[in-house]
Amino acid sequence: MTRDAAEDAIATGPAAAPEPPPQDAPPVVEIRGLSTVFGKGDEAFAVHENLDLTVRRGEILALVGGSGTGKTVLLRQMLGLTHPAKGSVTVLGRPAAEMGRAGAASRVGMLFQHGALFSAFSVLDNVAFALREQGTLPKDLIADAAMVKLRMVGLKPEHATRSPSDLSGGMIKRVALARALIMDPPLLLLDEPTAGLDPNSSDEFCELLRELHAALGLTVVMVTHDLDTLFALSTRVAVLAEKRVITSGPPQEVTRFEHPFIQQFFLGERGRRAMAPAPSAPSAPPAAAAPGQEA
Ligand SMILES: Nc1ncnc2c1ncn2[C@@H]1O[C@H](COP(=O)(O)OP(=O)(O)O)[C@@H](O)[C@H]1O
Ligand SMILES: [Mg+2]
Repeated sequence: MTRDAAEDAIATGPAAAPEPPPQDAPPVVEIRGLSTVFGKGDEAFAVHENLDLTVRRGEILALVGGSGTGKTVLLRQMLGLTHPAKGSVTVLGRPAAEMGRAGAASRVGMLFQHGALFSAFSVLDNVAFALREQGTLPKDLIADAAMVKLRMVGLKPEHATRSPSDLSGGMIKRVALARALIMDPPLLLLDEPTAGLDPNSSDEFCELLRELHAALGLTVVMVTHDLDTLFALSTRVAVLAEKRVITSGPPQEVTRFEHPFIQQFFLGERGRRAMAPAPSAPSAPPAAAAPGQEA
C-alpha cells in the first residue's frame, strides 16, 4: 500500500483492507478478565490486568501498543505458551493452555518476530517441522505437504533445499509463514510480520497475507508497528495500554480515541511520516500534511 493509501484510509476507511466479517461471526479467541503476572513475591509484576478481547472468525485484528506493553505475551497466551494468573483465554472453544504442543500447530499458526527459522535446517525441513514432530505421516507425504505450502507462499521448488542464511528477509518471512500454516490452522498469529522488510517486500508480504486470508478463510491476529501494514490489512485495531485493551474498532475510528499512546502512534512524528504523501507522488492532496513537514 502506498503512503497515499494510508492517508485515504484514515479519511475514508480502509480502501485495500478486507471487509470485516459480520458482527455475529463466531468467536475464535475469547479472552476474559486476563491477568498475566511474571515473577514471584515482591518481584511479581503484572503485564495484563483484567484484559478482555474477542476475535471473530474472518477478522484480521491489528494489535498495537507501546514497546513492552505485553503484545507478544498476549500472542503467547493465545498459543497456550504463557498461562493466565487470572481469567481465561479460550481459542476455538477450548482453554488455550490445554492445547499442548502437537495440538497447537493444527489450531494456531504463529509467525514469530524475526522469522525464527532453524538455521541448521533447510527451507523444506523448516516448513515440515510440525508434521515431522507429529510423526504420523510417511516421509514423502510430509515433503509433498511442505512443497505445497512453499508454493502457496510464492516460493519455488528450488528454494526447498536452501539454507535460511541464503534467503532474503522477505523470503524468510514467507518460509516462516509456510511453516506456520503447515497443519492448516484456522487461526494465524503474526508478531511484527513486516518489521525489517524494505517497503516493496513489505507490500508484497501484505498482499500475500491478504490473499491467504481470503483463500483459506483465516482469522488473523497481528502485532504491528507499521501503519502501512495496519491500514492495508486490518479489519479492526485493538490498542493495548494500561495492561488491557483500552479500545478497539475500525482503524479510522480508533485514531479518534483520546489517549496519549493513540495520538502519538497515529499522529506523532512517525505516524505523520507514514501517512505523508510519498516523494514520488507530487499530486497527492496536502490535506493531512502537518506544519513543517516535508512534502
Ligand atoms: N518469560 C518472561 N518472564 C518475565 N518477564 C517477561 C517474560 N516475557 C515477557 N516479559 C516481560 O513482559 C513485558 C511485556 O513483554 P512483551 O509482550 O514482549 O512486550 P511487547 O508489547 O513489546 O511485545 C516486558 O516487560 C517483558 O520484559
Ligand atoms: Mg513484542
